Amino acid sequence: MKNIVLIGFMGTGKTSTGRLLAGRLNRPFIDVDKKIEQETGLAISDIFQLYGEDHFRQIEREVISRVARYTNTVIATGGGVVLKQENIVRLKNTGVIISLMASLEIILERTARPGIRPLLDCEDRAERVAKLFQDRASLYMKADYTIDTSCMSPQQVTERIIVFLREGGHLRGRS
Ligand code: S3P
Repeated sequence: MKNIVLIGFMGTGKTSTGRLLAGRLNRPFIDVDKKIEQETGLAISDIFQLYGEDHFRQIEREVISRVARYTNTVIATGGGVVLKQENIVRLKNTGVIISLMASLEIILERTARPGIRPLLDCEDRAERVAKLFQDRASLYMKADYTIDTSCMSPQQVTERIIVFLREGGHLRGRS
């Protein structure tokens, strides 16, 4: 079976939904940022601080090229995965791409904890989120299915994804 790949801006619920979805479908779960942290022994924020964003994007690209070869796995990506087209091409070859969206207000609320997301550790978070969101919006739309998670819990998002997968014939049996 194909992978199920969650993409979307920071704070749209990719990790929490991905974990729930994997549990519901009885499939393995991979969180790409977690995998990068495990493999490098560094927090994402430390990679940015010590080596810069470009270096992080290279590591991310390399990890994506490996996880895209998996099958039957639920994969939660980092918000910037769409910045390299080859990442999305690879993930799409072996997976169904689901894009999680949310309003700017909700994203700001959900990403308020400092020190975790280096791109948002700045003076004017609202301005930064709006700018990054605008730059990336069209990239997130290149998915097979898009869900606005603003008013939904991860459980509700998970159920919505399952309905989509079932209707699209992406699930086998009664999962
Ligand atoms: C990033 C999103 C983060 C993480 C890194 C860069 C981005 O992941 O990969 O801080 O460029 O949007 P989450 O989307 O899981 O927060």
